[in-house]
Amino acid sequence: MWTTVVTMDLRLLLMSAALLGATLSLSVADRPSQCKVKWTFGILCEDVYNRLVRQIKLWQISTSCLYIGEKCSYELVSTSPYLINAAHTSHKSRSVNQLQFLFEQSTLCKVTGDSTMDSPKDPEANRTNFCSLQNLMDGSDLISAEGYTQFSNKWICPGFDITNCSLSLKII
Ligand SMILES: *[C@@H]1O[C@H](CO)[C@@H](O)[C@H](O)[C@H]1NC(C)=O
Ligand SMILES: *[C@@H]1O[C@H](CO)[C@@H](O)[C@H](O)[C@H]1NC(C)=O
Repeated sequence: MWTTVVTMDLRLLLMSAALLGATLSLSVADRPSQCKVKWTFGILCEDVYNRLVRQIKLWQISTSCLYIGEKCSYELVSTSPYLINAAHTSHKSRSVNQLQFLFEQSTLCKVTGDSTMDSPKDPEANRTNFCSLQNLMDGSDLISAEGYTQFSNKWICPGFDITNCSLSLKII
């Protein structure tokens, strides 16, 4: 099981290195800010999927953001059996993170999360890309689910190792 996870992560790393190479010709300012995180669970993907959808709906765009930092302003864009598309609008900057969760059921449930922001000049871009994914895992308490693991690094998610998402709980 671990070998599979490591192999997949290596492939991700190579893929992101290739992507980086492909975008080198673009100016840095044109490059959207991105974050990719992988999670595994010992529970069924169907469960994980339902809990994420429920959390997105709980934190829908109409919810007041005043006292809950960035744990709000989510929107369910579309769903299909193995895919959730959502969006998160930053309470502070109004920048939008496009979120995607891709599910793969094997002996484990594997979930790949992607967040992209088209406003790379937003100083919070790297942070909200990561936190708008991870806050859903925290909020739905999937982080306590059986077999929970999380993988990312600063190359595939620049906000990953510098970010403390609970800081977004602060009222600003
Ligand atoms: C986000 O991370 C990238 C890659 O590390 C970095 O080049 C960029 O300056 C960061 N953006 C912000 C707004 O901090
Ligand atoms: C994150 O920030 C919160 C609030 O400032 C703090 O209580 C917590 O210890 C921090 N966590 C880490 C891992 O630094």
